[in-house]
Amino acid sequence: MARRTTVADVRKMKSEGRRIPMVTAYDYSSALIAERAGVPMILVGDSLGMVVHGHETTLPLRVEDMILHAQMVMRGSQTALVVVDLPFMSYATEQDAVTSARRVMQEGRGQALKLEGGVEIAPIVRRLTEMGVPVMGHLGLTPQSQHQLGLRVQAREVNAARKLIDDAKALEEAGAFAVVLEVIPAELAALVSRELTIPTIGIGAGAGCDGQVQVWHDVLGLFEGKSPRHAYRFAEIGQQMEQALRRYAEEVTLGQFPTEAQSAHLKPDILTELEKGLSKAK
Ligand code: KIV
Repeated sequence: MARRTTVADVRKMKSEGRRIPMVTAYDYSSALIAERAGVPMILVGDSLGMVVHGHETTLPLRVEDMILHAQMVMRGSQTALVVVDLPFMSYATEQDAVTSARRVMQEGRGQALKLEGGVEIAPIVRRLTEMGVPVMGHLGLTPQSQHQLGLRVQAREVNAARKLIDDAKALEEAGAFAVVLEVIPAELAALVSRELTIPTIGIGAGAGCDGQVQVWHDVLGLFEGKSPRHAYRFAEIGQQMEQALRRYAEEVTLGQFPTEAQSAHLKPDILTELEKGLSKAK
């Protein structure tokens, strides 16, 4: 059996110029499918707050939620590097970060954590990495700060772009093994990718990143309506699911499902015995 991808493998992929695919997964069966498809890195992203739990933002998620979904993913995963998001406010202080990291790593069994933020969280990244926790950074559009920064393209101006470069360097310096760059100009993402020795994983950050990450529901077309610009629907699974369920409901309604193929039977003598004395027996 193939062994599990490690953070060293991911760094090697960058040094060898191999692009790194990553996708979110939130449960057992999606982890199985992602790995069968050959994806080496899975993110148990807090986007699950929206696409699985139906919240409007990622903010309501708790450490317990991330642990539960990480456990499901880990049961389906044998070869991917599984990175788990630390949720909003669960790493507000170094002590909070250590407590949350311990729980997600020990109870959720993920192999690495992702934290949003730059220079200001560098001491936390250093502390966690020194304690043996691989950390992936996350810069640009950071959904946990959406009420402060919005959900638009980030770092378009010189000062903001310079800050993002400094943030990325601070994360690398603090020991992060990779950094997600979300919804920033492609030129800036390419520049950061050249500057860093650790891999950049882009989402809405152009083709110059070392890898790409996409949300499960986006790549598979599970939702109706317009997808965000950074998403590409590689399939329309949502439509296929709806068609299948419509057919199922119709066949049940018409008495066409289940058929003999889905049925088990009693031996005739047992049926006769059971029917004895029943008023509605045939
Ligand atoms: O939660 C998530 O899915 C993410 C990706 C969009 C990078 O953070």
